[in-house]
Amino acid sequence: MDLKQEFVRVFGAGGEIREYFAPGRVNLIGEHTDYNGGHVFPCALTIGTYACARRREDRRLRFYSMNFPEAGILESTLDDKEYRKELGFSNYPRGVILTAAQEGYRAEQGMDILYYGTIPNSSGLSSSASIEVLTGYILKDLFGFDFDGIANAKIGQRAENEFIGVNCGIMDQFAIAMGRKDSAIFLDTATLQYEYAPLKLDGVKILIMNTNKKRGLGDSKYNERRAECESALRDLQRAVDIKTLGDLDEEGFVLYSDMIRSQVCMKRARHAVFENRRTIRAAEALRAGDIPEFGRLMNESHVSLRRDYEVTGPELDTLVEAAWEQEGVIGARMTGAGFGGCAVSLVKEEYLPVVMDAIGKTYREKIGYEPTFYIAETGDGPSRIG
Ligand code: GLA
Repeated sequence: MDLKQEFVRVFGAGGEIREYFAPGRVNLIGEHTDYNGGHVFPCALTIGTYACARRREDRRLRFYSMNFPEAGILESTLDDKEYRKELGFSNYPRGVILTAAQEGYRAEQGMDILYYGTIPNSSGLSSSASIEVLTGYILKDLFGFDFDGIANAKIGQRAENEFIGVNCGIMDQFAIAMGRKDSAIFLDTATLQYEYAPLKLDGVKILIMNTNKKRGLGDSKYNERRAECESALRDLQRAVDIKTLGDLDEEGFVLYSDMIRSQVCMKRARHAVFENRRTIRAAEALRAGDIPEFGRLMNESHVSLRRDYEVTGPELDTLVEAAWEQEGVIGARMTGAGFGGCAVSLVKEEYLPVVMDAIGKTYREKIGYEPTFYIAETGDGPSRIG
């Protein structure tokens, strides 16, 4: 598809039009740990968001998405600082541009940007973070700003927290801004220290399974989970000197968990603590080439997300449990925020067709509609492609 041609059709010719790409991400393990000072283990994908952009002479901002053509051109200006519902998806790039300005990267001219995303919406593969990081990258490239990938990730996260109103952690924006082909990123969200872990998956593929269930109330539930973890942390801090739940190990948690006044908050915190430790172990297992152990930890992660964090639901549970029954599946779990979206699994290559067939059949029978499968290819972070 010729994106520049589409850009000219939508916005008209003239000026220098540049083309860009930023990936989506899939998280292998370490779920709901990133706002609890824990570890995460995501990788960037080859599906993502494409864009064409050019600077304007005035202060207008014009956005268009080929994924929402019915919305037409969404227009605002650099001086318009409020979130506005009628501006739809363009609130994501607007949030990034306004946040970057607050951080000292102030564009004095507007832009026209056309987006085209290949990440299914609401799939939990971070289409919104992909747009955010891509916009940060465009801003940097068009105006010559000097910020690195980590700063870009932080701008995206702040835009999501303060402008969009979702209290997400840093994982998605970081995984996208810092992505590297054939690697997962082992990130300590407390310190932002990170390490690229080569994905040595001989004969094993990363299979993503989409429930095709829209996330719906996901955002409010997400903020609720986060608040529950914060409440548990405050209770624990009465007895033990920790900054985040990630500072506790399993024994520490068992010792102090009685301090947590609410049973629900206790379960949320138990997930956060144990999931963080599982993620550290999973990174070790990968380093040692122990893929079966990695898969076992993925399964454990799902059980904990189902029982303690309660973010799976029948659709994700059906996909994952059907996967567990299949020969050739090394591990499977939900990925991303949950409440719908996708599951991720490690599958021996030669079993893939049979596995997809069997899981699809079970899902159709129990849930009543089709799941979608993608064999994930890992990719690099954002770049200019034309
Ligand atoms: C969403 C958020 C991330 C992270 C995951 C759950 O993707 O954007 O920050 O919290 O959920 O692990």
